[in-house]
Amino acid sequence: MPCQVTVLYATASGNTEQLAVFTAESLRALGADVRLQNIADYPAEQLARASIVLVLASTWGEGAPPPDAEAFCAALHEDSSSLAHIRYAVLALGSSAYAEFCACGRRMDEDFARRGAIRLSPRVDCDTKYKAEFTQWLEGIQSALKALA
Ligand SMILES: Cc1cc2nc3c(=O)[nH]c(=O)nc-3n(C[C@H](O)[C@H](O)[C@H](O)COP(=O)(O)O)c2cc1C
Repeated sequence: MPCQVTVLYATASGNTEQLAVFTAESLRALGADVRLQNIADYPAEQLARASIVLVLASTWGEGAPPPDAEAFCAALHEDSSSLAHIRYAVLALGSSAYAEFCACGRRMDEDFARRGAIRLSPRVDCDTKYKAEFTQWLEGIQSALKALA
C-alpha cells in the first residue's frame, strides 16, 4: 500500500491517542507511509500539503473539542480554502451520557466535507465501549486504502 497517510488525534485523557497509535501501526504493517501526530502540534495550514488524513477525536465539555485541539478545530471550521485534494475519515469518541454525543468528531467530519474533502469511509461514532466500532472503522479504512492503491 504505497501511500502517505496523516493520522491526527485529538485527546484529553488518552483513549483516542491509543487508537491512533494502533491505527498507525496497522497501516504501516500494510506498507503505508504514516505520519502520526497530536492535532495540537499540527497547524491546520499543513492540510494544504496532505493527501490522506485520518482524524480520531474525542469530545469534552459540552460538545467541545479536547482543550489542546481547540485551535485546530477552530481553524478547520473558520477557514474556507478548498480541501478537495484530501481523502479523509473521522473516528469520533464520546459518551452517550452527554447531550452533545461525539460533537467534536461530527463537526470536524462536516467541516472537511464542506471544504470539499472526500470521505474515504464514513464517520464512526464510538461510545465508551468502542472496540467493535473502532475495528469496523479501521477495517473500512484498510479496504478503502487497498482500493486506492
Ligand atoms: C468532563 C468530561 C466531559 C465530556 N463531555 C463529552 C461530551 O460533551 N460529549 C461526548 O460525546 N463525550 C463527552 N465525554 C466523554 C469522552 O469523550 C470519552 O470519555 C472519550 O473516550 C475520551 O477520549 P480521550 O481520552 O481520547 O479524550 C466527556 C468526558 C468527560 C470526562
